[in-house]
Amino acid sequence: MKFLTYLSIAALGVALLPLTVQSRVKDTPHKLTGTHGIAVEHDEICRPCHTPHNASTEVGYIWNHALSTATWTLHEDADPASVMSSASRLCLSCHDGTVALDSYGGKTGTVFMSGDEKLGTDLINDHPIGVTYPVPSTRYNQPDANGNIVDPVETPAGQSAHLDDGKVQCTSCHYAHGSRAAYGKFLRVDNTGSKLCMTCHIGPG
Ligand code: HEC
Ligand code: HEC
Ligand code: HEC
Ligand code: HEC
Repeated sequence: MKFLTYLSIAALGVALLPLTVQSRVKDTPHKLTGTHGIAVEHDEICRPCHTPHNASTEVGYIWNHALSTATWTLHEDADPASVMSSASRLCLSCHDGTVALDSYGGKTGTVFMSGDEKLGTDLINDHPIGVTYPVPSTRYNQPDANGNIVDPVETPAGQSAHLDDGKVQCTSCHYAHGSRAAYGKFLRVDNTGSKLCMTCHIGPG
């Protein structure tokens, strides 16, 4: 009897696993204290990005990290102003490689992004951001009132892509605090079998 109970608990654990992957910042590559040679005061995990007081007034999210002022090369259909005022700018403030990871709270840091995670300022070789999502369209799945997009067949349950003010931004495919997908990489939708791509695109594939 006891053995059976243990078995069903184990089965339940396996079933729930994909929903709980990387659900907290401290378990992700965005824990920027004690890594990359950065030691944040009191080991405060949120601090490189947010502060309860004296935050940047240029963007929302009580932002604490120095902001990139780079001019990015974007897709021809992109609206540069929308990238400047969206969460994409927050991502690029580490990922374009122009601002140090440890430049936060008014300090000027010294540790810069390198390797595959550094996108640079030329974003022509990346998926378009700052572009308006076609509504209505027969080639794209349509967003709900909250800007969430699912493909009725391909998107795994509980996951969705997301529009920021009707546009595609970094946060359409990623979520800064951890993946909502078993796939990792802070993705909102598990991209195994290109399911993230098919969550928006209908035509190709
Ligand atoms: C590496 C940077 C980074 C770290 C570290 C970080 N955040 Fe965020 N946070 C962001 C970005 C970027 C956004 C806005 C984009 C988004 O919602 O994905 C955001 C948005 C938020 C929001 C509003 C949107 C939402 O998801 O509810 C809250 C609340 C928040 N963060 C709390 C926290 C807390 C609490 C911590 C520490 C445990 C933390 N963040 C650590 C980058 C970070
Ligand atoms: C404060 C700096 C900072 C900000 C802001 C930031 N990141 Fe990161 N990000 C990092 C660092 C550092 C890494 C780890 C790089 C490494 O391992 O060398 C990382 C890693 C990643 C990875 C790879 C994760 C993996 O599992 O391999 C993705 C994807 C990513 N970030 C996306 C984003 C997105 C999207 C945003 C905005 C919503 C964002 N980041 C904002 C610093 C930042
Ligand atoms: C259309 C969806 C989409 C958009 C928009 C998008 N990404 Fe990604 N990103 C992905 C996918 C999918 C991967 C995983 C690729 C892989 O595993 O090879 C990824 C990987 C990454 C990585 C890890 C690179 C690596 O080689 O491991 C970083 C960092 C990243 N994205 C940052 C960003 C930032 C910053 C933005 C906005 C400027 C952005 N992404 C916009 C889909 C997107
Ligand atoms: C959030 C919805 C969304 C997701 C997810 C998404 N796309 Fe897109 N994609 C778009 C939109 C909207 C455009 C149209 C941009 C424009 O031309 O205005 C686009 C454009 C493209 C283009 C044309 C690029 C160009 O230079 O004209 C390709 C190719 C593409 N996407 C492939 C992908 C792939 C591969 C994935 C998965 C990694 C993906 N998309 C995920 C919304 C999305």
